[in-house]
Amino acid sequence: MPRPQSQHYAISDLRDQPGFCSTVADRVWRAWWQGAGHPLEQVANHMQEMLDERELPFGLVAHEGATYLGSTLIISCDLEERPQYAPWVAAVWVDAEHRHQGIGRALVRRAAEATFDLGHDVAYLCALPERRSFYEAFGWRRLEEGVGPHGLTVLTCVRGI
Ligand SMILES: CC(C)(COP(=O)(O)OP(=O)(O)OC[C@H]1O[C@@H](n2cnc3c(N)ncnc32)[C@H](O)[C@@H]1OP(=O)(O)O)[C@@H](O)C(=O)NCCC(=O)NCCS
Repeated sequence: MPRPQSQHYAISDLRDQPGFCSTVADRVWRAWWQGAGHPLEQVANHMQEMLDERELPFGLVAHEGATYLGSTLIISCDLEERPQYAPWVAAVWVDAEHRHQGIGRALVRRAAEATFDLGHDVAYLCALPERRSFYEAFGWRRLEEGVGPHGLTVLTCVRGI
């Protein structure tokens, strides 16, 4: 019988691993901000908010020692059309060479658990329609579809379900 593999990486709060902030900023910028013409410095400045003592926002990083694997940010607002929803699991990213090992799923799960630990009953996430199956495969449910100019799907993860 094959032995179950133990997890080879850690998921840490960025406040405990601030050295990863510049890498997270780089990935977030390349994936979502660069194309819209925003400078890297703007994202890097936002990362400072992840490090202060406020409950939100904060970041989680998956890493193997000093090697960055992936990250997510937990923020108050990710969709300006839906200010009534919070908090949001956002900017889920796993570096290409580390994908398909369950790291993305583990990051999103940990992020939802962290919001529940803060007293929230629901965590929100928005995704392009072609990405939603990734989240639905581990329990996130569609709340709304076709939101905003990009036709985003809003998904939720509810405490205890
Ligand atoms: C989406 C992403 C975070 C997934 O990370 P990952 O570590 O590969 O995810 P997991 O290994 O936990 O994936 C589990 C399963 O989800 C599914 N899945 C993975 N990526 C998917 C995608 N982009 N769309 C739909 N389903 C996906 C697959 O079925 C995968 O199983 P497999 O490895 O057997 O194919 C990663 O592909 C990524 O960083 N993509 C670019 C950024 C992005 O699109 N972020 C999401 C924004 S909403």
